[in-house]
Amino acid sequence: MANKPLYKSLPDSKLERKRNIDIHFNHEQITIPESLKKFAKGKTYFIHTFGCQANYRDEEIMAGMLEKMGYTKSDDINSADFILLNTCAVRENAEQKVYGQIGNLKIVKEKDKTKIIALCGCMVQQKHVIETVIDKYKHVDLIFGTHNIDELPSMLEEVVLKKVRLVNVKSLPGDIRENLPSARLSKFKAFVNISYGCDKFCTYCIVPYTRGKERSRLMEDVINECKELRDAGYKEVTLLGQNVNAYGKDFKDGTSFAHLLEEVAKLGIPRVRFLTSHPWDFTEDMIDVIAKYPNIMKYIHLPVQSGNDEILRLMNRKYTSKTYKELVDKIRAKIPNIALSTDIIVGFPNETYEEFLDTVEMVNYVKYDSAFTFIYSPRKNTPAAEIKDNVTPAEKSKRFKELVKALEVTVGESSARMVNNTYDILVESVSEKDPTMMSGYTESNKLVHFKGDTSLIGEIVKVKINESHTYSLIGELVND
Ligand code: SAH
Ligand code: SF4
Ligand code: F3S
Repeated sequence: MANKPLYKSLPDSKLERKRNIDIHFNHEQITIPESLKKFAKGKTYFIHTFGCQANYRDEEIMAGMLEKMGYTKSDDINSADFILLNTCAVRENAEQKVYGQIGNLKIVKEKDKTKIIALCGCMVQQKHVIETVIDKYKHVDLIFGTHNIDELPSMLEEVVLKKVRLVNVKSLPGDIRENLPSARLSKFKAFVNISYGCDKFCTYCIVPYTRGKERSRLMEDVINECKELRDAGYKEVTLLGQNVNAYGKDFKDGTSFAHLLEEVAKLGIPRVRFLTSHPWDFTEDMIDVIAKYPNIMKYIHLPVQSGNDEILRLMNRKYTSKTYKELVDKIRAKIPNIALSTDIIVGFPNETYEEFLDTVEMVNYVKYDSAFTFIYSPRKNTPAAEIKDNVTPAEKSKRFKELVKALEVTVGESSARMVNNTYDILVESVSEKDPTMMSGYTESNKLVHFKGDTSLIGEIVKVKINESHTYSLIGELVND
């Protein structure tokens, strides 16, 4: 099907920085062209999502639109008629994985030219990626950006009818679209967007460019979505934003995340979570709301990135190690059983070993219950990527290992403390390693395996912990 590319729009990183744009809300239902319904009848789709929860939520919306067109879901990438790779650009290795997958699809397309292969997500918000794909991966038919998702039906129609390779990647966000169809990936846990984009511009990070200006959904739209999920029996709802604490600030009418979180908690969903909190504007009100409602999980993901003030300044994180520790102390004073997790970047340009040791010191101070660790990866067009870096990759990976060791101690201690206690577990799946075991998560987001059967999936059960394996726990089902 691939022919000459038709460029409708291309991303421009300078334009992606723009923040003084008006945002409008659009509650109209989407319409599906009749010709597309005829085309999609009897056909299947497959979506492979890389990256964060924002991308998974986008997958659900796109799946919803495809099902409305008449496509049905396939679990096999090789046999699907429409194959979509929903990409992530946060680190180099995320992009390498995607390129590998695009490469694999070449023979799939050669065997059957009627298949449509598409790319979307954060990676294609970069012009150089589009150029590479158009040039080297001629089997890709459609490329569309994070701000073009709602145009999926008309874009597909164009690819099908005009037999073009279509590129449509806008630099700026359009309206906030409500009422888009959605095919949720889980029947018991759900992600609900509360805001899109990010205005923090941490100097290493590509997300403010790929996802655009920070913009909040209307409170009533968020609440209505949560009510629908509650009424459909969902056990867990996670409120999603790159920086949830900034929720509502763009309305300039006093709307706050603390207020939204309280209103969602009042709906009575058994488990309410939120992701991600920036340490810079984590308010006292938020702490009070988390403390007050038993159904708000006592777990906060609080990315620290580094424990050194100079590195934090160069990262544009807007807090110091002292103010971060004060925040942790304040949270622990009001919510003593809180579990804390974090994200850490090792090897920011020119980070010295002494500066790195401040991060290890931070880990030992906070005693994180869990953590995600990354080696710094330069991202084109971000300010940090301009800095000439004198630290070798070997040195960076040595520090990375040292950090992982320090975390193993705090995570191990936190898991060991749970042995002999009983916890509520939301059961998610059969254990990957042992088909007689079920797996699920505690309130503090610890992974627990226990003997059980599949009828428990989607239920909250009580499990007594018998063994700790640092990053997972083994327990046994107990009757109430
Ligand atoms: N908005 C969230 C998530 C951002 S991406 C937040 O602020 O926490 C998730 C994590 O990826 C970040 O917290 C950071 O630790 C990591 N990350 C982002 N850009 C990176 C880069 N260029 N190199 C390495 N890690 C990066
Ligand atoms: Fe990236 Fe910083 Fe925004 Fe998180 S807060 S998405 S790390 S710019
Ligand atoms: Fe990746 Fe985009 Fe999320 S870069 S981490 S998919 S916002």
